[in-house]
Amino acid sequence: MKVTLKIKRFNPEADQKPHWESYPVEVEPTERLLDALHQVKWFQDGTLALRRSCAHGICGSDTMRINGGNRLACKVLMQDIVKDGGTVTVEPMLGLKVIKDLIVDLEPFFAHYRSVMPYVVNDEALPEDGRERLQSPEARERFDQGTKCILCAACTTACPSFWSNSTYVGPAAIVQAHRFIFDDRDRATDERLAVLNEQFGVWRCRTVFNCTEACPRDIPVTQLIGEVKRALATGRVE
Ligand code: SF4
Ligand code: F3S
Ligand code: FES
Repeated sequence: MKVTLKIKRFNPEADQKPHWESYPVEVEPTERLLDALHQVKWFQDGTLALRRSCAHGICGSDTMRINGGNRLACKVLMQDIVKDGGTVTVEPMLGLKVIKDLIVDLEPFFAHYRSVMPYVVNDEALPEDGRERLQSPEARERFDQGTKCILCAACTTACPSFWSNSTYVGPAAIVQAHRFIFDDRDRATDERLAVLNEQFGVWRCRTVFNCTEACPRDIPVTQLIGEVKRALATGRVE
């Protein structure tokens, strides 16, 4: 199929503001948008800047705004986003500074991630046999959803609350906090909940659901945020 990629371009060293450029490409319907972007970069305009690594939906590095919604370019089939002769729009994620073209500065995103202590905290002595801390399948299941997160930032950069104030910790960091708050081996629940109870913590979530819609791992983001809110409101983690 012959389609047009309409890509938002911005080079801060040369441009005053972003502008759109259109590129005709010929692709198989079952190729991914990432393949079409490679066609542009490798054969039409090598100055196009984009991030990608695994090309298989695992590393989370090629999130972009595709036809107005956040998605991973390597997981989107052309046949699902455009008809023969049509146009696909591609922009960088919203709410973060553009470094060049489709690449944004993810440091504020990862600062929020680090703020919730995304690791197990437990200074208690190991069991007597000196081996690992055992966990029941039920206890492991309690935080399973959050373990699927690939930190792609699609949720946080789809959130209107984050667009209006990027000090908001954002849904991705809350999902990460949830993963450890509900892990029965962890002992830092109070510290994490205190971070999320701050002015720009979990209460900035207005239950818009854009995050859930954007998540490429089908994580029920808004539901997990609700569980964290409930833990704060009731003082119980269950
Ligand atoms: Fe990406 Fe989903 Fe994780 Fe958000 S929760 S960072 S959308 S994988
Ligand atoms: Fe934003 Fe998701 Fe809440 S889109 S407002 S974090 S439900
Ligand atoms: Fe790794 Fe798309 S390139 S998720």
